[in-house]
Amino acid sequence: MQGFIVYVLILSFISPCLCIRFHVGTTYGTTYNVMQYGATGDGKSDDTKAFSSAWSSACKAEGMSTLVIPSEKSFLVKKIDFSGPCNSEILIKFEGKIVAPSKDEWEAGPYWIVVENLNGLTVEGNSQGVIDGSGSTWWGCSDCDRPGVFHFHQCENLTVSDLSISNSPRSHVSINACKGTTFSNIAINAPASSPNTDGFDISDSTNVLIQDSHIKSGDDCIAINGGSSFINVTRLICGPGHGISVGSLGKNGANDKVSNVYVQNCTFRETSNGARIKTFSGGSGYAKYITYEQITLQNVKNPIIINQAYHDYLEETSSVLVSSVTFRGFKGTYVGKVAISLDCSSSGCFDILLDQNSIVPAENEKSDSVSCRNAHGTVRDTIPNVPCLS
Ligand SMILES: *[C@@H]1O[C@H](CO)[C@@H](O)[C@H](O)[C@H]1NC(C)=O
Ligand SMILES: *[C@@H]1O[C@H](CO)[C@@H](O)[C@H](O)[C@H]1NC(C)=O
Ligand SMILES: *[C@@H]1O[C@H](CO)[C@@H](O)[C@H](O)[C@H]1NC(C)=O
Repeated sequence: MQGFIVYVLILSFISPCLCIRFHVGTTYGTTYNVMQYGATGDGKSDDTKAFSSAWSSACKAEGMSTLVIPSEKSFLVKKIDFSGPCNSEILIKFEGKIVAPSKDEWEAGPYWIVVENLNGLTVEGNSQGVIDGSGSTWWGCSDCDRPGVFHFHQCENLTVSDLSISNSPRSHVSINACKGTTFSNIAINAPASSPNTDGFDISDSTNVLIQDSHIKSGDDCIAINGGSSFINVTRLICGPGHGISVGSLGKNGANDKVSNVYVQNCTFRETSNGARIKTFSGGSGYAKYITYEQITLQNVKNPIIINQAYHDYLEETSSVLVSSVTFRGFKGTYVGKVAISLDCSSSGCFDILLDQNSIVPAENEKSDSVSCRNAHGTVRDTIPNVPCLS
């Protein structure tokens, strides 16, 4: 008996040390709660300093650490800089609500929350975390440089889950120069009329997975820009919004390269576009190995669209080469004039495959048209038929 008590006593001394080394339950190592750093969580007082001190302690700690943004509290934070490099691998338990200041009180730069130079960061919202960008104070100002909400730059092995992000002045999540990032169960919400409020903007990044999420926005649900490869989007609901786009690429003569994009099991709900590839003329580079498959369409205006003359303003001296693009298993309704539009540059798009699609006009809609320009490839089992693809 005495031996047992000694054993328990020894264990209780050892276990705090173990916590620092191993992922125990849902926290890692030492915990840094913003409330312990002076945050009020009343939604009105400025909690910016508390967030930056808590982050700085968590980042300096050795081993693993957990930053806690507690639930049932609302924090007004003017800017958040979650930058590394850190000594520790960090988990952010993001269970409270963070509210951006209004336009007149703005103190952050082009992005409100910046996550930069980090390896192995995990952000867990546990379906309680809310990020509100207070965008309605910005949307009316058309000549303002409106900021984005959540910016990830130079991150490796990043995981973000179960968060709600709403009302960004501009893009909600931007991912630049990251390798290996997974976003799961993210709800993005902005009105259909809000300007340039992309859900996700991805550039210069590889191995990005966005899954099981729902995006409602005033612009692209996801935009995949130059320098991106191995980008997967799975089980996403998009709408309202402008669809899931590759591009726009080649703007101002840019050399943009995008490859290996897989969009699977997604639903477009009353969006203006579904699957879209858009490039400017005058650019160079490529968009290749792009697959959209198992796509449900609910009253989409332009379900499948390649547009190589996007906002055309330069002479068509060169263009981004679009090739190896598959649209497979699109099922559902459209409400626009053209179900499938493949508008390629004069040098052409190649190896376009349309397979097992059934895209029909919504009730009371009559059009059943397709259009192509310089599009080369194959059509199989597709309604409407696309005889212009050759
Ligand atoms: C990222 O994860 C992969 C696979 O788990 C691992 O091989 C790699 O070393 C990790 N990179 C960093 C920077 O942690
Ligand atoms: C992305 O999709 C491709 C094609 O389905 C698949 O082979 C790959 O494993 C997926 N990657 C991730 C990270 O989900
Ligand atoms: C996509 O949906 C099909 C049919 O429901 C299912 O068999 C497949 O596993 C799903 N794939 C992914 C990546 O969710």
